[in-house]
Order: sequence, then structure tokens, then C-alpha cells
Amino acid sequence: ELKGNTLIVVLGASGDLAKKKTFPALFGLYRNGFLPNDIKIVGYARTKMDHEEYIKRVKSYIKTPIKEMEEQLGQFVGLCSYISGQYDQDEPFIHLRKHMEELEGDREERNRVFYMALPPSVFISVSEHLKRNCYPEKGITRLIVEKPFGKDLSSSRKLQKALEPIWKEDELFRIDHYLGKEMVKNILVLRFGNEFFGATWNRNHIHNVQISFKEPFGTEGRGGYFDEFGIIRDVMQNHLLQVLTLLAMERPMSFSAEDIRDEKVRVLRACPAVEPKNVIIGQYKKSLDGSKPGYKDDDTVPEDSRCPTFCAMACFIKNERWDGVPFILKAGKALNEQKTEIRIQFRDVTSGIFKDIPRNELVIRVQPNESVYIKMNSKQPGLSMNTVVTELDLTYRRRFSDLKIPEAYESLILDALKGDHSNFVRDDELDASWRIFTPLLHYLDEHEEITPMEYPYGSRGPLVLDEFTASYGYRFSDPKTYQWTQSASS
Ligand code: BG6
Repeated sequence: ELKGNTLIVVLGASGDLAKKKTFPALFGLYRNGFLPNDIKIVGYARTKMDHEEYIKRVKSYIKTPIKEMEEQLGQFVGLCSYISGQYDQDEPFIHLRKHMEELEGDREERNRVFYMALPPSVFISVSEHLKRNCYPEKGITRLIVEKPFGKDLSSSRKLQKALEPIWKEDELFRIDHYLGKEMVKNILVLRFGNEFFGATWNRNHIHNVQISFKEPFGTEGRGGYFDEFGIIRDVMQNHLLQVLTLLAMERPMSFSAEDIRDEKVRVLRACPAVEPKNVIIGQYKKSLDGSKPGYKDDDTVPEDSRCPTFCAMACFIKNERWDGVPFILKAGKALNEQKTEIRIQFRDVTSGIFKDIPRNELVIRVQPNESVYIKMNSKQPGLSMNTVVTELDLTYRRRFSDLKIPEAYESLILDALKGDHSNFVRDDELDASWRIFTPLLHYLDEHEEITPMEYPYGSRGPLVLDEFTASYGYRFSDPKTYQWTQSASS
């Protein structure tokens, strides 16, 4: 564990990720006393700017709604400094080393955490330069890297091969920030810490599983990046598959990083490649009232782009626990709401005494408004024997009202400082996950006649979506008879 003598170097310090996630998370950790006492934070990027300008920028990345936070921010920026330089030359990295040495003084142990908030094009070059010029002789070094880790199995392997001789696997921390989300971290506890879930968590009791990711905004401003990747590579191969893995894996021997990741790899290997016949894709067009632009209205997007901004697919897991159970992944941009949710629909109860009684559902709401609820049948109170759907409801805001849920990035940066790999992606896990998606991605890239179905900005997605979900046996509950209401809980 890194107790002291630590430097964090944020490469790409003037980029979007650093601005939106890395610096706010570092400040959040600092404010709550989670960073080592003598921490220093060095920014590195191509943009030339002096110290004052840099500090002004860092301050602008962070919101300080209360007065006390402003003071803390003042202290935080006192730990920050900046070096500008190219990503492919030795000289600026030597400059960076000298700067680090000045900050470190004459201590022997030099612990350095490099956080690469960088585009993939400079990824390998930067990691080589860091190793050559900035790797300390004594002390702990860690490299935090951000997706995209390649675009398919072969490019991911190539990247891995390039990194392998430079960095040891235990120095690498591949971020998938969904693994830092509170509810995602809760999945293993819910499953393995509760006998009633543990006992029913299989194909004998579960009919289907849905994992949905919905965003109410399009790719505004990110069109250039997005068009090269599309929704499947952007969120499904990583974030949604990680959630699936945690839902489907077997009980690990312990909570140690390797025990958890061994089980994750095992279940991924039981998951055959997604078949195109089990997939629908969509792309958003202008909103119905014309106020929101279509995907292709973005100047950075080619006019004939076939890039999917929506996708729904069914995956299957060929093992004793899950054979035949569809895992439906759905992800879309420019939809009607913001929501990431896991919905586990149980099988029908034995018929006979009941007619058409709805299925149980366990819903894990990842965001917003974290909650876990079970849709459960109960007798309608009163003299009749009618049944009614009710819920067992754990809404975090109500149950843990005075707790602040940490941001995913806070939790992950802290793990990386501690050297805990449990919530980071291992090399073989990456390989196993690309194997599941690569044939589909190539199929979509190669078949020019396949065009995504259009859906209006702000809608629920392509019209066929409900039909698609129903075709895997998902039974919709009638919204007239049941709707989970947050009003009771918030
Ligand atoms: C990122 C994707 O990894 O995750 C984005 O590149 C997406 O397209 C984002 O918007 C979603 O993260 P969150 O934490 O806001 O759900």
C-alpha cells in the first residue's frame, strides 16, 4: 500500500476526462482525507500554459457548492503543478522526471502513480516514454489506463502485446468505471450474502435478465470519437458486460482480486459470441419537435454513417447455471430518460390456484436514485382473495439518508492507490470479453447493407424494441396495474 511519498501524474490533464472525472475525484478524495498526506499531483499535457493559468483551470473543473469547500480547494490546488510537452519525445518526459524529483526531494522511495487520461493514439508512445524516462529505481509505480482497450480482439491483443514488455500486469490498472459504482459493487454482496437470492439464482428460477443503459443526451461534441466506436464498443463490451459477469459468475473463493477475476474469466469463457440474429441496432434522428439534432447532424459525423447509437442484444451462457436464460443487454443514447438498471425476471409460479399471476422481478437500479426492489405478489388487503403486486423496496436515499455515495472514480482511484485490483480489468478478462463481441462487430462493419433503425431523439428507441424483448420471453407487466413509484421513497 502507498502510505506516503506519493506522486500522482495525470497525463492528458487538459482533456475532457481529466476535467469531468479525474480532478473532481482527486479533490473528493483529498477533501475526505483519503489521499496520502504528502501527495503531490502533477498534470501533463500538450497545451502550453503557465502555473496560474493551470490552477485556474483545475479550479474550474471542480464545483464547490459550500464555502468550506472553497477553502479546501485552495489547499488542494496548492498540491498541483503542471508540465507541458508532447507525447512522443524524450525531452519533455525528462523534464517531467526532473520536476518529479524536485517535488520528491532526496527521499529514496519514489512512489509514482501515472494516470493516463489520453486518446488511444498516444497510449503506447506515452507508456514507453514513461517507462524509459520516469520510472523510479526504488518505489512503487502504477499505471492507470482508460478505455478504449482496442477496437476488437486483434487490436486489443496488439495493444496488450505492446504494453507487456514495458509494464507488469500488477502495475497496470485498467479502468472500467462501472466497477466503481456503488450498486455494481453491491451485486456480489446481494447474491452471495443472501440465502434467498443464492438459492434461486439459476435457470430453474430465473427466466430472463435485462441490463439496460439509457442516456437522455446524444453524442454532442463527441461525435468524432463516437463514430469510430459506436454504442457496442463504447458501453456494451465493457460496462454492461462487466455487470453481466458479476450477475452470472460463480461464488469466488474469497474477495481477493485474483479469486474474483478468475471467476469472471470463467463465466465469460462460457459465453458464446453474440449472434447477429440476436441483435437490433438503431441510430437517433431529430427529436419529433425538431428541437434536438439527429446523430448525423453533428459536423464531425460522416453523412452516411451507419454507426449504432442504440443496440439491444441477447447473450447466452452455456453452463449448468444459465443454459437457456437470455441475458438481454440494451444501451442507447438520446433516449427518453437517464437510467441504468438490472431487471431479473423470475419464472412463472406453478399454475392452478392462480390465474395469470405476474412474475416476480428483482430490480437493481444502478443510477440514478440507487435502489433494489422486488416486485412481489400479495393478497389485496381486505375481505377478498384478490392478489396485488407490491414491492419490497430498498431505496438508498431513504435507508441510508445521511450517507454520501462515493463517485465511481473516487472509489477506483483509491483502490489503485491501495494496490487493490479487484475492480480493474485483467488482461485475460479483456481478451475473453472481446471474443464475445468481435464477430458481431466485424459482421456489422462488413455488411454495408445493414443500416441501423432510426428512432427520434428523446424516444424509447427503435419501435421494434418491445417485440424484440418479448421474443426472448420477457413478460411485460401492465403499467396500469403496477408501477414502482419513487415518490413514496424520495
Ligand atoms: C463512458 C462512455 O465510458 O461511459 C460514455 O464513453 C457514457 O459514452 C459514459 O456516456 C456513461 O457513464 P456514466 O457513469 O455517466 O453512466
